[in-house]
Amino acid sequence: MPRNTTRLRLAGAVAAVLVAAGVATGPAAQASPEQPTLAQLAQRHGRYFGSATDNPELTDTAYTKILGSEFDMITPGNGMKWYATEPQQGVFDWTAGDQIVDLARRNHQRVRAHTLVWHSQLPGWLTSKQWTAAELRAVLKKHITTEVRHYRGKVYSWDVVNEAFNDDGSYRETLWYKTLGPGYIADALRWAHQADPHARLYLNDYNIEATGPKSDAYYALAKDLRARGVPFDGIGFQTHLALQYGYPTTLKENLSRFSGLGLDTALTEVDVRMQLPASDAKLAEQADWYRQLTEACLAVRRCVGITIWDYTDKYSWIPAVFPGEGAALPWDEQLHPKPAYQALREALS
Ligand code: XIL
Repeated sequence: MPRNTTRLRLAGAVAAVLVAAGVATGPAAQASPEQPTLAQLAQRHGRYFGSATDNPELTDTAYTKILGSEFDMITPGNGMKWYATEPQQGVFDWTAGDQIVDLARRNHQRVRAHTLVWHSQLPGWLTSKQWTAAELRAVLKKHITTEVRHYRGKVYSWDVVNEAFNDDGSYRETLWYKTLGPGYIADALRWAHQADPHARLYLNDYNIEATGPKSDAYYALAKDLRARGVPFDGIGFQTHLALQYGYPTTLKENLSRFSGLGLDTALTEVDVRMQLPASDAKLAEQADWYRQLTEACLAVRRCVGITIWDYTDKYSWIPAVFPGEGAALPWDEQLHPKPAYQALREALS
């Protein structure tokens, strides 16, 4: 017995020396008690580091282990969308959203709730009918009020309106815009605020990372909403990037100008996709982009945090929506960290 104890002590001492020397002692260089998590690194800067997740993945215990440990903010990838929460008019279903909120609570994580008003993933009863403006306004108010009340006190923020503009900066011709006009955005923000005065309220979109017509449209809208006293806290930059389109080099200055309006900003759905197959060179470039976007957020005082759109290529939405593209996240399909993961750690350190 004493001999075994000595051996154990020795093994422990060797491991401690290796850890102190920065040598990875486990099978994968994942967070261990000796190595701070992405969330802990971000917290040192007063930021959060989050991941999206989706209900079907939650039976994968290797997956949930990392989800529960590396991140301090969680976004439901689908579970709080309209089709999931009000599948029949006036019939609400919180099963999917609640499952994720409960998991986050058990893991001491906060929740970025997503999303109340969008043109996509709407239930059939909503899209198949011709609504008058008065009818649709009532439907929208009831949906927002009921859902935000249900999650009141349980979520950090809401993406109140998602993807309201076209790339040229014009309003997207959605059901909401066509029937209600641009005022639906301010109305949605007011109803959400009434239902949960403490939730941070966001407008969220893609292709607004660089300055340009679309982010200019948000800037103008944000200024206008502010001037009119509409309750509203931040802009979510989805940040779905693709190596073949180039890095948005004006990201930092763009984030800064929204801070200048007194608004929070956040990178809300980050992924960096590439044309498959992946190569070492592409993965290295991807890592560099993850580093740069993290540094951009850290450099802007009111950029409050970063969320990746799930953390592993195993559950990324990219291959289904962009055929031939993928490998967009910092962990690969085997849940092993990629160069992008190391780059995130370095940028946050
Ligand atoms: C995606 C989900 O990840 C997929 O599972 C779903 O099939 C489609 O929607 N912008 C958004 C997110 O705001 O809600 C989208 O999520 C990805 C693009």
